[in-house]
Amino acid sequence: MSPQPQAAVGAPLSRVDGRLKVTGQARYAAEHDVDGTVHAVIVDAAIGRGRITSIDTREALAHPGVLRVIHHENAPKLPYRENTASNNPPGRRLRVFQDDEVLFHGQPVAVVIATTLEAAQHGAGLVKVGYDAEQPSTDLHRAEPDKPTTYARGDAEAALRTADVRLDLEYRLARNHHNAMEPHATVARWDGNKLTVWDKTQWVVGTQTELSAVFGLPLDSVRVISPFVGGAFGSGLRCWPHTVVAALAAREAKRPVKLVLSRRQQYFGTGYRPSYEYRLRLGSDRRGRLRAMAHEMDAETSSYETFTETVMPAGQMLYSTPNVSQAYRTVPLDVNTPLWMRGPGFATASFVIESALDELAAKLGIDPIELRRRNEPSEDESSGLPFSTRRLRECCTVGAREFGWHRRSARPRSRREGNWLIGMGMAVGVYETQRNQAQARVRLDADGTALVQAAASDMGPGTYTSQTQVAADALGLTMRTVTFRLGDSLFPPTPPHGGSQTMASVGSAVLDGCNRVRRQAITLAVEDRESPLYGVDAADIVVRGGRLHTKDSPARGETYRRLLARNNRTHLEALGSYAGAAGPRRHSFYAYNATFAEVAVDADLGLVRVRRMLGVYDAGRIISPKLAESQAIGGIVGGIGTALLEHTVTDHRDGRIVNANLADYLVPVNADVPEVKAIYLDGEDREADPLGVKGLGEVVHVGVAPAIANAVFNATGRRIRQLPITAEALL
Ligand code: MOS
Repeated sequence: MSPQPQAAVGAPLSRVDGRLKVTGQARYAAEHDVDGTVHAVIVDAAIGRGRITSIDTREALAHPGVLRVIHHENAPKLPYRENTASNNPPGRRLRVFQDDEVLFHGQPVAVVIATTLEAAQHGAGLVKVGYDAEQPSTDLHRAEPDKPTTYARGDAEAALRTADVRLDLEYRLARNHHNAMEPHATVARWDGNKLTVWDKTQWVVGTQTELSAVFGLPLDSVRVISPFVGGAFGSGLRCWPHTVVAALAAREAKRPVKLVLSRRQQYFGTGYRPSYEYRLRLGSDRRGRLRAMAHEMDAETSSYETFTETVMPAGQMLYSTPNVSQAYRTVPLDVNTPLWMRGPGFATASFVIESALDELAAKLGIDPIELRRRNEPSEDESSGLPFSTRRLRECCTVGAREFGWHRRSARPRSRREGNWLIGMGMAVGVYETQRNQAQARVRLDADGTALVQAAASDMGPGTYTSQTQVAADALGLTMRTVTFRLGDSLFPPTPPHGGSQTMASVGSAVLDGCNRVRRQAITLAVEDRESPLYGVDAADIVVRGGRLHTKDSPARGETYRRLLARNNRTHLEALGSYAGAAGPRRHSFYAYNATFAEVAVDADLGLVRVRRMLGVYDAGRIISPKLAESQAIGGIVGGIGTALLEHTVTDHRDGRIVNANLADYLVPVNADVPEVKAIYLDGEDREADPLGVKGLGEVVHVGVAPAIANAVFNATGRRIRQLPITAEALL
C-alpha cells in the first residue's frame, strides 16, 4: 500500500476532549450517577499492626440513613482466586474483611453504607473498633531486608580497589505519593450476577480480571468503565482494595454503591513511590572514564506483597562501565504495598547515578557534559545489543546550547545576586521503551465517518487526541470525522496505560486496524467496474479527506461515501492488532533526555527556588507535539516536587502517615514552577514499533531531580544526597 499523507500526526493539535473537560461534561469515576445509588465510606484501621478484637456497630446502625456496616465478622467469604493477569505483585494480596488481622495503619476494617454521603461519613465515625495492637515496623533503616536480586559483570570490587578515583556515596530518597487531582473512586452496580464498575483506573482490563478473580466470576460477567481519569501517575495501575469494597458493598446492600476515597485515604488506600536507601560506589580513571560501579539498593515493600520496579537497568546500560555489581533488596514493612510512580525505578536510579556523576565531574575538574560524553557506550553493555536509537549526545549538545550552559561557572558558589546564590546543573534521563499486545476495532461508516475503539485509558496525556491523529491519517479522514473511544472493558483489550507504552502499543493496533479498513476500501474500488479507480494498482491509491484517489492524479477518484453507497455497504470494519515486543530482541530500546536546571538558593535560609528548566528529549517520533510539550512540563513539575518538596512522613511509633493531606504533603504550586522549556529531537525509531515512537510520558520526569540537585551544588557548594532537598538540609 502507498504510504498515507500525514496531516494530523505531527500537527500541534489541541485536545479533542478539551471542551468536554473544561465544561465539566467529561465524567470522572465518582461522577457517574446510577439510579438508586447509595454511599459507602471505609473505616480504616487505627493501629499499625495487630488484630481486631471487637467491632461495635450499634451506634452507627442507629444513625439515620445508615443501611449496613460490613466487616470481617459479617462479610461473606470471597473466592480471591489467584490472578496473574493484572498487576498484583507476588505475595498474598490484601483480602478485605476476610479476617481480623491488621497489616498496616489505614487498612480497611469496615465499610458503612448509607443513603447519603453525610450519613455514611458520620456512621463511619460511630463504628467502634477494638484492637490488640503490636508495634509496627515501618522504618526502612531498621528493618530486615529480603534476599537481594543481583547483577554483575566484570569484577566491580577489584576494579574499585585499583581505580584512580573513587567515590562512596549514600543516598536516601523519600516516599512519594501520586496525589492526582481526581481522588480514587468506584461506582459499583450488580445486575443479577453481573457486575459493572465505573472506576478510576489506568487499566480497565486489569481491574476486570482482578474483580473477576476476587468474586469468582467469569471474566465477561465483569464490566469496567473508565472514560476519563483525572491524573494518576501510576496510582491507577492496579485494582486496589477499595474497588473490591465498593463491589462487595453493592452486592450486600443490593443497591448501586458509590465509594470515594478521601484525600487522606489515598495515602494508604493506593500505592506510592517507595522510599530507598541507595549506596553507590564508583571508580574511574583520571580522565573520568568509569571503571566500576557498585549499587546497593534497599526499597520498602509491604509485609504481604513484594513490589519491585526497574531500578537496576539504568546502572547497567546508561554508561560504559566494564565492571558493575548490583544488589537490590526489598524490605518488608508494616505498610501498604507501593506501586509504580512516574518514571518508576529509572527516576530513582537516575537521581543517584546522575548526582554521583556530577560529584565525579567536580572532583576531576571535568565539565559534567564532557564527562558523560567520555562514558557514552557504543552498545547496551548489559545485553550486547545495539541501541535502536540513542541520541543522548545530541540531547546534551542541543540542551547546552539552548540553556546557555557556557555561562555556568564550574566553581560552586561563584555567582550571587544579592542574597541569592545562583547555580546551574544538568543530568540525563533514560526510560525503557515498552510495547505490549493490543487490539483496536475500526469501523468506517457509509456516511464517511469512522469509530475506533480500544479498552485503553487516558489519565491525562491525551490518548483520545493522539489516537485520533493516528487513525485520521491512516484512514485518510479529517480529525473531525474520526471518533476514538476508550475506557471500557467491552472494547478490544489493551495493556496497562502506564510505562509510556500506550502510543506504541494501542497506537500500533489502531494503525493496523485503520490500514486494514483502508485496504478493504481500496480493494473494493479497484475491483468495482463503476469506480473511477477500477483497474488501478491498489498500491497507487491514497486517501485524503475521505476521498480515494491515485497518488499521481488527484482528480481521478471518489469518496468513501460514494464507494460504500454504490456497493450497498453500511460500513467496513476491521480488528487491528499489535503483537508487542514479541520474538527475539535485536535491539536495546530506550528513550533519553538531557535536563537542565538553574536555581537560586537563599544564602541564609537555604530556600531553593528553581528559576529555569529545560528538557531535550530523544523519544522517537512525536505524534502530538502540543500534548508532548504538555507531558514534558508536567514531568518537570513532578520532578521539582520530588526534588524539593514531596515527602510522605510516617510516625514509626504507630505506623500512621502524619502528612496525609495536601496541606502538609507539599507539591509544587505555580509559584514553584518557573519557565519550563521542552525540545523534542525530530526523528523516529523504526525498530521500536510501527509508529516509530519510544514513549515519552515517563522519560520527561527522569533526570529532573538530579539536575536540580546538581544546580543546588553549583549554587552552594553543598552536596545534598537526599530527597527532598529541604531548607533544613541546606542549613
Ligand atoms: Mo506510569 S508510573 O507507568 O503511570
